[in-house]
Amino acid sequence: MSKATSESTTTAERTTTGETDERVDPEWSNYEFEGTPKMAVEDLDVYYGDDHALDGISMEIPERSVTALIGPSGCGKSTFLRSLNRMNDRIRSARVEGSIRLDGEEVYADGVDLVELRKRVGMVFQNPNPFPKSIRDNVSYGPRKHGDLETGLLARALGRDDGDELDELVERSLRRAAIWEEVNDRLDDNALGLSGGQQQRLCIARCLATDPEVILMDEPASALDPIATAKIEDLIAELAEQYTVVIVTHNMQQAARISEQTAVFLTGGELVEYDDTEKIFEDPESQRVEDYVTGKFG
Ligand SMILES: Nc1ncnc2c1ncn2[C@@H]1O[C@H](COP(=O)(O)OP(=O)(O)OP(=O)(O)O)[C@@H](O)[C@H]1O
Ligand SMILES: [Mg+2]
Repeated sequence: MSKATSESTTTAERTTTGETDERVDPEWSNYEFEGTPKMAVEDLDVYYGDDHALDGISMEIPERSVTALIGPSGCGKSTFLRSLNRMNDRIRSARVEGSIRLDGEEVYADGVDLVELRKRVGMVFQNPNPFPKSIRDNVSYGPRKHGDLETGLLARALGRDDGDELDELVERSLRRAAIWEEVNDRLDDNALGLSGGQQQRLCIARCLATDPEVILMDEPASALDPIATAKIEDLIAELAEQYTVVIVTHNMQQAARISEQTAVFLTGGELVEYDDTEKIFEDPESQRVEDYVTGKFG
């Protein structure tokens, strides 16, 4: 008998009856890619009180590319996303162990400026959450808050006033978020008067206005109709030319359409498999991953 046969039981008990009867092989999530990792996660554990939400996650996120996170409800996708820009710090019961680096620098080091971190690693949420303010004020909110628009020294040196600078920023951000054509004649209208899909693109524009490097998206299209979803998907593809995008989605087709690599989290907060999206959907190593992507559970 070949050696391979005698060793085959070391990786997986090939059962399809449930989600739990499989030994996870660390090799399955050891994804090797060309290019630079933008973020590197090592041995990440997250607890909520005694609840172990993420269990020993290690993965590197490639620069200027779309990475999808998929897995059944409760497996820790949002928790993972929030770890990347320390949004979990805001949850009292949350405790984070391990290492996350952004361009090689530890995100969890003492003294990290969280405002600066969240500017570099921006976030877009599941439900569009524009402020009850004008479209213009929504987009300029971040840069104003960070003080980027207030000094105006450069603008004055160039003979422009702050208003020009602000208008440029608003237009540039709305254009990048593919919503400028739809709103340029009503920038002073309340953002809550926009459709859901428009509101979500406005929120993306608001995120882009602070010039992030990484954009985290937690199911950004799940509250939208198919046409609005298609617009967001096109937009994400464009953003990946310039930004590092990490997106959680429940929609397998969406993950397959828009991402270059996919990480599959399963019950217990484990990262089970991480690889090229095509490999994950067409020929995954893990039986549970195959069952999940083909809709047998979750
Ligand atoms: N703020 C919180 N306080 C306590 N426990 C939490 C909190 N947020 C998440 N959890 C728990 O951590 C685990 C992972 O939750 P998380 O929201 O990250 O899952 P998810 O994969 O994003 O699920 P979904 O697909 O439903 O959004 C769950 O057991 C959840 O109950
Ligand atoms: Mg979630």
